[in-house]
Amino acid sequence: MDLWEGSKYGAAILGALLLAAICDWLGGAMYPVTYLVRPAYIVPGVAEPTVDLAELRRQWPQALASPADRARLLGYMRDMRKVASINPAQESAATAEPAVEQLPDFAAAIPAANVAAGQETAQRCLQCHVWDKGGPNKIGPDLYGIIGRPRASHPGFDYSSAMTAKGGTWTYDEIFRFLRSPGRYIPGTKMTFVGLPRAQDRLNLIAFMRSWADTPPPLPPHKAQKADVDTGAKATKPAPAKAKP
Ligand code: HEC
Repeated sequence: MDLWEGSKYGAAILGALLLAAICDWLGGAMYPVTYLVRPAYIVPGVAEPTVDLAELRRQWPQALASPADRARLLGYMRDMRKVASINPAQESAATAEPAVEQLPDFAAAIPAANVAAGQETAQRCLQCHVWDKGGPNKIGPDLYGIIGRPRASHPGFDYSSAMTAKGGTWTYDEIFRFLRSPGRYIPGTKMTFVGLPRAQDRLNLIAFMRSWADTPPPLPPHKAQKADVDTGAKATKPAPAKAKP
């Protein structure tokens, strides 16, 4: 093989490599991969799982643009030590909301609530309810005049036995507690709505719900100051330790 022939081979190999590189680059430029940054659609009434998509992408080697990054991450993942598994009971205790929730002072919180935000939240109820005066029952009963209405009392609606058995009246307190998690507050209810875990969402909604009546029932009186907040009184007058039988 003389020099001329050798360089022909060399040029052919180099040319092939160059073509492969150009194709790779061209493919990447023509079909850029787009990744989700937030959930593509929201299903009303369904709690969004809190998935951090950016985090997911970081952990997903194919999502890295350059092969070198992919190789580095895979190498790192192979090397990673296994993290000791977290005790599931401990984990759920840390993330679960407290079972008992402090009730707000409605007399102060409702006038301060954001009615427009409440109206937006109420769109989620429309899937199953209407709140027009004399409106029809849908999957759930008509909610006109719901605040102050006896529970399970709307004519023509077939309530669950759980709802009927609970009895009582839809006071501000009751609605606030029910809407946090209907299924947890009244186990066996037919209202399959996940609930509104954030107290402020419920306050905003209740502020809007007051418009579902000719005259909304008055807000409950201001809550009395809680004794344990008043630390000054405690310091001057320590409570005698009572021995309870
Ligand atoms: C998936 C359907 C669905 C959605 C969404 C829904 N509800 Fe309901 N709701 C029902 C059903 C069904 C009942 C009857 C429950 C029973 O009988 O156990 C009900 C009952 C109720 C009651 C008790 C009514 C009564 O007459 O005693 C209230 C209050 C209520 N819903 C409020 C709301 C609010 C406020 C929203 C929006 C945040 C909402 N619901 C969203 C289906 C739904």
